[in-house]
Amino acid sequence: MAILKIARMGHPVLLNPAKPVENPLAPEIQTLLANMVHTLDDAGGVGLAAPQVYESLRLFIFHVPPSRAEDDQAIPLNAIINPTITPLSDEQELGWEGCLSIPGLRAAVPRFKHINLKALDSKGAPLDRDFSGFAARVIQHETDHLDGLLYPMRMNDFRYFGFNEETLRYPLPLPGENL
Ligand code: NI
Repeated sequence: MAILKIARMGHPVLLNPAKPVENPLAPEIQTLLANMVHTLDDAGGVGLAAPQVYESLRLFIFHVPPSRAEDDQAIPLNAIINPTITPLSDEQELGWEGCLSIPGLRAAVPRFKHINLKALDSKGAPLDRDFSGFAARVIQHETDHLDGLLYPMRMNDFRYFGFNEETLRYPLPLPGENL
């Protein structure tokens, strides 16, 4: 297992649409997934997409740790391959996000509140499941990486963009939020 280098915003690999994975069970894909798990564990964070480790393939790993599970259940670390997302309503909400490719910064980004995800898992088995809230947010963020999109490209209010230390020290309430 290896800890992989993480591409930072400005590198073109983060802007290219990634290619579908033909065989999730191929040894190179399984090795990539294992190395991504190791890399995410080392870097900290809730998700990592293959383009972030210089592999332009449509796969990512994510989890929702108990500390981040809102109304949702916590979700153990798992692999998502060739995802397709369908919003289940027009409803969007602002929520804070960071990205390992944009270290030190965070922002409030609008995302669909409820989505359906169709994909393959790490064993190549089909997955068809609805997600809400933070889990839906993470899945949208990671799937965007496969389409060459980074979270600043989704923002509509740049007042909610700043360095971790400053935005945590001077919290700007989100719409509907009382601090
Ligand atoms: Ni990211």
